[in-house]
Amino acid sequence: LRVFVPRDSAALSVGADEVAAAIQAEATRRGVALTLVRPGSRGMLWLEPLVEVERPDGTRHAFGPVTPEDVPALFDAGFPAPDTAHLLALGPTDQIPYLKDQQRITFSRCGVIDPLSVDDYRDHGGFEGVTRALAMPPEDICRAVTDSGLRGRGGAGFPAGIKWDTVRKAPGPVKTICCNADEGDSGTFADRMLMEGDPFLLIEGMVIAGLAVGAAEGFVYIRSEYPHAIATMRAAIGRAEQAGWLGDSLQGTDQRFHLQVRVGAGAYICGEETAMLESLEGRRGQVRAKPPLPALEGLFGTPTVVNNVLTLAAVPTILARGGDYYATFGVGRSRGTQPFQLAGNVKRGGLVEVPFGISLHDLVYRFGGGTASGRPVRAVQVGGPLGAYLPESLFHLPQDYEAFAAVGAMVGHGGIVVFDDTVDMAAMARFAMAFCAIESCGKCTPCRIGSQRGVEVIDRIVAGIDRDANLALLDDLCAVMAEGSLCAMGGLTPQPVQSALRHFPEDFDRPPLGAA
Ligand code: NAI
Ligand code: SF4
Repeated sequence: LRVFVPRDSAALSVGADEVAAAIQAEATRRGVALTLVRPGSRGMLWLEPLVEVERPDGTRHAFGPVTPEDVPALFDAGFPAPDTAHLLALGPTDQIPYLKDQQRITFSRCGVIDPLSVDDYRDHGGFEGVTRALAMPPEDICRAVTDSGLRGRGGAGFPAGIKWDTVRKAPGPVKTICCNADEGDSGTFADRMLMEGDPFLLIEGMVIAGLAVGAAEGFVYIRSEYPHAIATMRAAIGRAEQAGWLGDSLQGTDQRFHLQVRVGAGAYICGEETAMLESLEGRRGQVRAKPPLPALEGLFGTPTVVNNVLTLAAVPTILARGGDYYATFGVGRSRGTQPFQLAGNVKRGGLVEVPFGISLHDLVYRFGGGTASGRPVRAVQVGGPLGAYLPESLFHLPQDYEAFAAVGAMVGHGGIVVFDDTVDMAAMARFAMAFCAIESCGKCTPCRIGSQRGVEVIDRIVAGIDRDANLALLDDLCAVMAEGSLCAMGGLTPQPVQSALRHFPEDFDRPPLGAA
């Protein structure tokens, strides 16, 4: 019988290794034969460490959150086939409503398979997409991606197929694929979870991108804060090479693709694609002016596909099952599924992969269960630290790029951070400016200087000094940053500031200095 204890960072941070060791030691002490498997996480993070036991009929039963101290009692209850009435028993894993109500496409294998087993990956439908792609002309691969409606999951939502086609048609003998895994948005962890739980999926997506545009070289740029993802990706690349899915002859064909991991050094701005390219080339991560677009002049001047982890990881399914299949999910121009990440003050934090169109209300309440503190939800920030703060009156909004843009917000990378009624929105607005001041690459004035002035102006408003004049000044400053910044860092910082002001003006309305 097999027992599964996750190796995902989120599970490790709450003691998964200790639980795994306790299970192994207890099994040895009692003479119980079991095989311990270390998959990624199922994404139900409030239940970690989540231990799963495989029954003879193949179904997995979940127990969690398990501590090392719980382990002897689990064995007393008959482990590895413990009493399903045990206090920690959650029943068949697939039937847990949080998982059952999802539409897992990109994350279908995450938490299920052994992330470093090529055989396990193949047995669960892996390599079907790349096998098809190996037999297809490049333009047909690009067309399948265009037909699927897949848009960039890093946040900007640019159509992936159009970007690939631009690189395919760009002149030049050498082209490059760069995967942006510098997941810097607050409250996001989907890229990390995928790299730790299903690394071959990302590798497969990158090989397909290479075949589509005629690139033989790829780089995965991973932030240094993700040591487990880095180790897992490096190990997976080694195994993919051994199995002939990377290297000079992909599965005996004359197609080749090489992949390397590069580690960032901890700057938020290196998630911006041109700063990432600078960093990959060995320079300080500073933003380049566009044009030229990376699709035409990217890494070392070569036409380059820069895609987020989730964009590339969606591609194998599109090739295996067809663009039309992927396009059946979603709403409007937001096709397919999005792995949303619930974080902050939320009862059931974790990963929720569902088609676009789901309401914020459903995500926060049906999946998230409201706040962890039990107090009323006051605001959610969607799309990272540069995303808008939204009040409950906008929770009916469907997750859709266009619907969010219409109210001055963005879906971004799918991060949703929940706040209860104790949040001070003026402090959150100040934080946005302070964050920008710290993370600015310094290349352009509206962002470098504007963010510093933004902190000062908000401080004056909150202190009640010349309130009306300073509110007008803040408005003006936000317009300059939004219109005049070279990249999204300075350009989007006004979004959290102005949404906080618009939806929660009472938090900025303090009595003037000296008033009783
Ligand atoms: P953008 O709209 O300038 O570009 C999006 C992508 O499309 C880029 O790769 C660009 O090179 C490409 N592109 C644009 N026009 C093209 C054309 N005609 N042909 C081929 N390719 C073309 O957006 P940007 O500045 O790259 O990203 C901003 C977004 O990043 C924000 O909306 C935000 O959501 C997101 N973001 C994500 C973070 C994360 O941790 N994932 C962190 C911070 C921001
Ligand atoms: Fe650099 Fe900020 Fe200008 Fe972007 S907006 S180029 S981060 S200074």
